[in-house]
Amino acid sequence: MRLRSVCDRTKADQLRWNAHYGSIVGNPSVKGSKEGLPVIRFSEVRDPFLCPLRQGRQWQQQHREARVANTLDDGSYKVFYHCRKISALHGEPLQRRLFLKGTGAVTVLLVGGVAFRAYERGVFSVGKGPAFEPWKDWQQTKDSPLALVSAAILAASPHNTQPWLFKLADSSIDLYLDPKRYPGPLDPYLREEHIGMGCALENLMLAAPANGYAASATLLPGKLTLASAYSDPEVVARVVLVPGARQRSELYGAIPHRHTNRNPYALKSLPADFIDELQRAANDEADVKVFLFTADQERNAIVELIVKANDTVYADPQVDKGSEAWVRYDWKDVQRLRDGLIMDESGQPPLTIAMVKLATPSLRRFAFRHKLLRTTSYKEVLQATPLFGLIAVRDRYEREQSLLAGRIWQRIHLLTTARGLAGRPVNEAVEWIDHQRWLNQEPQAEAALSELIGNTTWQPTFMFRLGYPVRQVSPSPRRPVNDVLL
Ligand SMILES: Cc1cc2nc3c(=O)[nH]c(=O)nc-3n(C[C@H](O)[C@H](O)[C@H](O)COP(=O)(O)O)c2cc1C
Repeated sequence: MRLRSVCDRTKADQLRWNAHYGSIVGNPSVKGSKEGLPVIRFSEVRDPFLCPLRQGRQWQQQHREARVANTLDDGSYKVFYHCRKISALHGEPLQRRLFLKGTGAVTVLLVGGVAFRAYERGVFSVGKGPAFEPWKDWQQTKDSPLALVSAAILAASPHNTQPWLFKLADSSIDLYLDPKRYPGPLDPYLREEHIGMGCALENLMLAAPANGYAASATLLPGKLTLASAYSDPEVVARVVLVPGARQRSELYGAIPHRHTNRNPYALKSLPADFIDELQRAANDEADVKVFLFTADQERNAIVELIVKANDTVYADPQVDKGSEAWVRYDWKDVQRLRDGLIMDESGQPPLTIAMVKLATPSLRRFAFRHKLLRTTSYKEVLQATPLFGLIAVRDRYEREQSLLAGRIWQRIHLLTTARGLAGRPVNEAVEWIDHQRWLNQEPQAEAALSELIGNTTWQPTFMFRLGYPVRQVSPSPRRPVNDVLL
């Protein structure tokens, strides 16, 4: 018996089938009959397409049976396949369709899964959710001390620790520092936390005239000590409120728009009148001075110093651990805790941010360790800075002066925001001073910064960079007002 043809599909199909898949080979034998036609069994079937997919066996099993349609003149048989059955199993278009169907289903599942995870992990919700509400409803309460606190909590704070608590009375607000909310040995004397308190105080004072108050602030003097010496919240400033002329300032209007921008900036000189204003920012304060650096040589020296300080300070595992405790990778934590540093504000490329938000902790660690994500290095970010600034005080470990330095930074950042520019603190060099003091080491960092400002009577306490933004940034989370009232 000779096998003549293998399919009763159209001629074109048949040719294609033969061309693509070769023919049935082997030893066909007639085994009984069905519906009046002999049934041919094949001992072997060869299919170059299916075999690599490891489906040859299944194909063979299924097609050992084919029915003879008729006997041709030369005595060979025309084999009658049930074409639907055959094509479902080895016809190329259907095979591909099946494959595509399979991969399509997997793709849909995968995309669906990734989309759901992306949704759950806040990839599409930048700046949205309860953690960001205080930026929107900060003016909901009006003409009351609570309205002033609503503005105060939008201030900057180290690692977004929001160390503030407020005790309200009809005509006064006391500001307390919560000593538990600090990033560990990175800020061993709570110096930066006090600066953050100063930032909050500045917002509060700007909100006073906007809500019909004349406000006067008393900063409580005192020496900063090791964080371990604090136990309970400590009052650091008192604001007394009396009715006053209603007035909204440019800086007050900038409060909800000010955000720390950690991206590179355009290397373009900043307007001369803006630089003049910055220079005068602390003119009313005898114990605070602002230094600005725009020359290439100065900026390069600052970049090198900050990078070195960053590498040195964060090499201390205690610093790293304390700092890491305030980094919120999980979107649920962002919405629940409403504080800390979040990926959306990291200044990394948007795709990298999305990937990090999506990843599990182990995958994230793996990706960072093996440099799988495109990141912008800190040095690259710092190099993209047309202006560095430094706020210095007479005594870095004096509470009142730390609060004042905070007020000045908040003012500078609000002014920067109002002029459409971007700003970011870059404090590692000063943190290095704290760190060396804490470890009783030689004060190299102190010497390097004194050399930079060319003066030993001023002590640097806060550093920052300003420039034209190349990317806008989203807000950072905030605890609600009710959570920060004593
Ligand atoms: C005293 C102090 C030190 C800070 N140091 C840094 C710093 O070194 N690097 C940085 O990227 N941000 C620094 N920040 C910015 C805070 O991380 C930021 O204010 C906080 O995350 C809240 O975000 P926001 O400013 O966008 O509201 C500092 C802020 C303060 C008040």
